[in-house]
Amino acid sequence: MLFEEYKYFNYQFPEPQYLGAKHTHLAWIKEFIPENVKTAIDAFAGSQSVAYLFKQIGYKTITNDFLNFNNQIGLALIENKDNKLNNDDLKLLFQKSINKNEFELMENTFTNVFFEKEEAEFLDNFRANIPLLENPIKQAIAFAVINRSMTRKITMGHFGHTQALVYASDPERIKRNRSLIRPIKDIFEEILPKYNNAVFDNNQDNQSFNKNILELLPTVKNVDLAYFDPPYCDSHADYQGFYHLLETYTEYWKDKEFINGIKRYEPQRVSGFDKKSDVINSFEKLFELSEEIPNWLISYNNRSYPGIEEFEKIISKYRDVKVEAKTYHNGRGGKGSVAGSQEILFVCKPKKKHFVSTNQQQKLANERF
Ligand SMILES: C[S@@+](CC[C@H](N)C(=O)[O-])C[C@H]1O[C@@H](n2cnc3c(N)ncnc32)[C@H](O)[C@@H]1O
Repeated sequence: MLFEEYKYFNYQFPEPQYLGAKHTHLAWIKEFIPENVKTAIDAFAGSQSVAYLFKQIGYKTITNDFLNFNNQIGLALIENKDNKLNNDDLKLLFQKSINKNEFELMENTFTNVFFEKEEAEFLDNFRANIPLLENPIKQAIAFAVINRSMTRKITMGHFGHTQALVYASDPERIKRNRSLIRPIKDIFEEILPKYNNAVFDNNQDNQSFNKNILELLPTVKNVDLAYFDPPYCDSHADYQGFYHLLETYTEYWKDKEFINGIKRYEPQRVSGFDKKSDVINSFEKLFELSEEIPNWLISYNNRSYPGIEEFEKIISKYRDVKVEAKTYHNGRGGKGSVAGSQEILFVCKPKKKHFVSTNQQQKLANERF
C-alpha cells in the first residue's frame, strides 16, 4: 500500500446493526489479504463493512448483495465519490408529499406491527419524496440512513419478531434504549452526519450491484481478490425473514403478499445459500465461477452446514486452503456468534503447480506407449 493511501483510514464506517456484520473483525481479516491486489469483490456484502475496508485500502472495489437495501448502502458508501445530503435535500425529503395517495404501503402493512400509525405515515411520506432527490446516489444515502434509523428504533434491530410495540411501551427497556420511543425523523437527523462524513473518493471507479452472486460473477473481469461471506446455513441464514421490512420499504413492492404476524413478503428472492438442500451445489457453482479470481477469503462459522472439514474438502478441489480461527468471547455479532463459537476464515490461494522436468515428461510419455 502506498503511504498516501493510509489517509483513507481517517474516514469512519458508520456502525452497522446487521446479523453477521464483520465490522468488529476487520483488523483480523485484513491480516490475511495478500499483496499486489488491485481489484477486490465483496460478493455477499451485507452492511458493506468489508467493501468499505477494501475501498479504504485503495482497491477498485466491486460490491454486491442480492438484497436491494444492502445495495443502497453500497451505492451510498462504496460507489459514491462525493455526494452528500445537504439541508435543501432534507427539506425535500421531509416536505408533505403531493403523491401521498400512492404511498401508503407502510401505513397499510405495518401499522401496529412495528410502528404507530403516525410513524408509518411519516415513512410513507419520506419514501414518496426520495425519488425527488437529484440522482440515484443521493437517493441511496437517503435509503441507507432511513433504513438504519428503522433498525435503531425497533428492539433487537431486526424485524423477525412482533414485540416491537410491546417493548416500546416497557419503561425498563426504554431506560436501556431511548431510541425505542424516539421519532424516526430524529434518529435520521442524528445518524445522517455519520454517513455524510463517511463518503470519500479513493480515485477508483467502485461499483455496487444488486444481484444473485451466481449471476454477477460471469460478468466481472480482472478481479484479484474475492471475499465471500455467505449466510451461515443452519444458523440465522434467513436474511429476508429478519430484514424483510427494509427490503419492502426500499422496493416498495406492488406484487407481493405480506404474510405471518411480521408481514414478511412472499414470494422471497432465491439465495441458494440458505437451505441445506441446495447450499453445497451453490458453493460448487460459486467456486467454478470464481476460477479466474486467484485469491479468495471465505468467512465461515463452526456452527454452519456443511461443517468445517467437509467445506475445506470442497474448497481444496479448487484452491490451496489454510483455515484460520478466531474465538468469540461473548455473544455479540449475531449469526451463530454465541460465546465459544468461532469465526473462521478460509485463506485460499492458487494451487501450486507441480513442477515436472523435461526428463520426467519424456519418461511419462515413454511409459504411455
Ligand atoms: C453474512 S451476511 C454478510 C455480512 C457482511 N460481510 C457484513 O459485514 O455485513 C450474508 C449476506 O449474503 C447475502 N446473500 C445471500 N444470498 C445471496 C446470493 N445468492 N447472492 C448475493 N448475496 C446473497 C445476504 O443478503 C446477506 O446480506
